[in-house]
Amino acid sequence: MPLKKYLKNLNNNLPNISLYIHFPWCEKKCPYCDFNVTTVKKDGDIFALTEAVINDISLSKDDINNRKFQSVYFGGGTPSLVPEEYFKKILDFLRKKEMIDSSAEITVEFNPKEASKDKIASLLSAGINRISLGIQSFDESVLNQLGRNHSAAEAKKAIANLAYFSNLNTTIDLIYGVMDQSSKSFENDINLFLDHDINHLSLYQLTIEPNTIFYKKELNLPDELKINQFENIAKQLLKDSGYLQYEVSSWCKENKKSAHNINYWSYGDFLGVGPGAHSKITNSDGIQRQMRLKKLGSYINNPQKKKSETIAYEDINFDFMINFLRMKNKTSFESFEERFDYLDKSKFFKSYEKGIELGLLEKSHVGTTEKGFRLLNDTVNLF
Ligand SMILES: C[S@@+](CC[C@H](N)C(=O)[O-])C[C@H]1O[C@@H](n2cnc3c(N)ncnc32)[C@H](O)[C@@H]1O
Ligand code: SF4
Repeated sequence: MPLKKYLKNLNNNLPNISLYIHFPWCEKKCPYCDFNVTTVKKDGDIFALTEAVINDISLSKDDINNRKFQSVYFGGGTPSLVPEEYFKKILDFLRKKEMIDSSAEITVEFNPKEASKDKIASLLSAGINRISLGIQSFDESVLNQLGRNHSAAEAKKAIANLAYFSNLNTTIDLIYGVMDQSSKSFENDINLFLDHDINHLSLYQLTIEPNTIFYKKELNLPDELKINQFENIAKQLLKDSGYLQYEVSSWCKENKKSAHNINYWSYGDFLGVGPGAHSKITNSDGIQRQMRLKKLGSYINNPQKKKSETIAYEDINFDFMINFLRMKNKTSFESFEERFDYLDKSKFFKSYEKGIELGLLEKSHVGTTEKGFRLLNDTVNLF
């Protein structure tokens, strides 16, 4: 079914929707981070942002279009710097308005220093059921290189505090490819992760983003060979311990995939609120990408103001595949055609055939081969 016909039948056909809420404050800006972050917190800012977020969600009725949020993600910045009452306020509002699915995954990003048992317990009672902890490394010298403001001991203490709660899903972030990071140190990071029996890991390669302090510096970064070595170490150790790589940067135990992230990569819709947050919304005009105002004060004064762009039909195949192919899944051609019937099919399958010929895409299901996953940019660029 081409896009126009699909959009006409939208009400029976809308994708799932999730909610992203951006809390921009950080104690200190890390020199490698290009997220929308501020280290300035004035009295009343958190209250004002919470009010603006609630207002924004209320006024986004058309975009939400009677759907319940399947997941909620408080990201940042450092949401763990925000007192518990504000999470409760937002979640109470969503529940009161019946905007949230009863089994929704609700995640908060944490930095290790704030992960006290008291804080975790009160977030649990507000309805949070998943915490994403930014460990980065258990090696003091790697943390120093990254300019992080926590120590390895604080990282371990945070994990121990989280482990105390059996009704909580935990994921941690680790980074590889840091200046002077040795294979031994990285192997130790993975082994420490495994020792703690956490069932989800996000493993990011350090990227040097424009507009960061690292971008302006001469850095002694590991070469490609070393990066491959890090990746092979991670693959071997994680696989041997029963973890499955289900996405470029994501590893988990059976049934512990992140519902929120899966929704992004499966081309679901998401409403992003808070300064600079991004949304993807399907409506009768097409598939739209939106971005809220980036500055905290501007967003608070004008939460509904956004830049919107409707994705041109000829770009949808690419926009779809850049997300979908990040996942290592084995979707059959039948279910793919059924679920994503609005793609430009003739063009899609021409590109797909070429991918099979080049050994980048699978014949038996929709997805990359090992080679196609390794060369993901080349694979996506076929579309
Ligand atoms: C934006 S932070 C927000 C959560 C929290 N403040 C933290 O630092 O963990 C989310 C994750 O993105 C990672 N990140 C940010 N910039 C990155 C970069 N340039 N390369 C790799 N990972 C990056 C952080 O290290 C962190 O694990
Ligand atoms: S990596 Fe996390 S703590 Fe560091 S500046 Fe970015 S958002 Fe803040």
